[in-house]
Order: sequence, then C-alpha cells, then structure tokens
Amino acid sequence: MFLVFPDTSTVADYVSSTLINTVKSKPDAVLGAATGGTMEPIYARFIEKIRQLQLDVSRLTTFNLDEYVGLGVEHSQSYAAYMREHLFGHLGFNKARLHLPDGLAESLEEHCRDYSARMQQHGGIDLQLLGVGSNGHIGFNEPGTPFDSRCHVVELSERTRIDNSRFFSEDEMVPGSAITMGMKDITDAREILLVATGENKAPILAKYFESDVTETIPFTVLKRHPRARIILDEAAASLLPASVFQRAAAA
Ligand code: F6R
Repeated sequence: MFLVFPDTSTVADYVSSTLINTVKSKPDAVLGAATGGTMEPIYARFIEKIRQLQLDVSRLTTFNLDEYVGLGVEHSQSYAAYMREHLFGHLGFNKARLHLPDGLAESLEEHCRDYSARMQQHGGIDLQLLGVGSNGHIGFNEPGTPFDSRCHVVELSERTRIDNSRFFSEDEMVPGSAITMGMKDITDAREILLVATGENKAPILAKYFESDVTETIPFTVLKRHPRARIILDEAAASLLPASVFQRAAAA
C-alpha cells in the first residue's frame, strides 16, 4: 500500500527514476506536474539524471495541477515561476507543450473548461505526480470537493493558506483562490504517484490509512485507483503501523 524510503533523497531517487523510465518508454508521454516543497528534490534529481543520460524531453507534454488566481506568470510565487525555476527552465522542454492554468484568465470558468478539455484532447495523463496537503488535498481540491469534479476555481482553506504562507514574504498575502484540476481530471490519469515527506504529513497519512474512501479526505480516492502508489519517507510514515508498508532501499 505504501512504499517507504529512508529519507527525502532516496524518495527523490525513486520518483525521478520512475519519471525517467516513462520518458524512456514513451518519449511523447503526457505528465501531470505538481509544485510545492515535496517536489523540489525530485525535480532536481530528475534534471541531473536527464543530463547524465542525455535524454530528450522536447516531446513530453505536461499539465500542471494548479495555479493561484490573480498571479501572472512573472509573479515570483506563481506556479508558472516555480516550474521555470525548478524544472522547465533547465532542460530542453518545448514551451508549446507545457500547460499551466492561467491565474489571470479573463473568464476563469471558461478557462477551466478549456483546461480539462485540452487534457482530454491530448489523450489524458500517463503519469500524474501528486503531493498532499496536511488536510488531505490533492491539487487544490480541498476537503469536500466532489470526486467527479473537473478543473474549477476553488476558495483556499485557512489551513492551506497558512501552510503555503511559508513560500511568501511577510508583506505578501497568500491568494484566497486558485484554479485546480478537478478530482476526476486527476483520477483519470493512467498512473499516479503521490509523494509525502516530513513529519507534518504523518497525521494525514495515518488518517488515510484509517479511513474509507471519503470526499472529506480527498486523497483517499487513490484507494480506488488501479495504478496509484504512495511514496513516503520514514518521517511521513511514522504514524502508520509498520505492517502496512513496504520498506524500500535507495533506487
Ligand atoms: C501543488 C499542489 C498541492 C501540493 C500540496 C503539498 O501543485 O497541487 O496539492 O502538492 O499542497 O505541498 P508541499 O509539497 O509544499 O507540502
């Protein structure tokens, strides 16, 4: 059910290797990309390995999970800026194939409909990367979001705004709303890797383990997905009974 590695670096090794295998077996794959602290070491390792192996990423298509409403691509806290800094700015990606929701779209509803439609036109996502919020959100699908939702605008919960304030400077406010892929957009992916590291994720992982599938803990939907894996470090797994996880060595 859970694959547990000693630390964030061995997690990054494993997840980046999985991404590399996808690039090798399907150079024109469609990847679902996430942002956040959890993904930083993963993208750093991915960049290193792609360079070592001299692999071509120009045929990959990517769709990001989410973006803050009101932040343009040049804003330092936009997820577009995050992706440039941590991944897209480093390798030979084809910009025309990189999709992110537009936080400045004139009609957000129309933009959301178009974003979900674009994903489907590209044949859906082959491999979706996910982090998880301390309240169980995936993308910005906060507790209570229907499992059949498509891309939509969401009011961010107080919990999420507090969690994410660490990325903003003191005089900046975390935006109150965001665009996110819907739960159905996410679960339509053919394969899903959810990654959680650090002890602040341990309580929500314990809840995941104890709960049935419920919209109040969004990521419990992964229990129904035929190809979803949950990748943890020891700290995130610390409140789980050892019998339910498989300890893995470095990749
Ligand atoms: C980010 C996203 C969020 C994060 C989650 C965990 O694109 O969709 O669901 O994955 O909030 O964030 P970190 O990794 O910063 O703990």
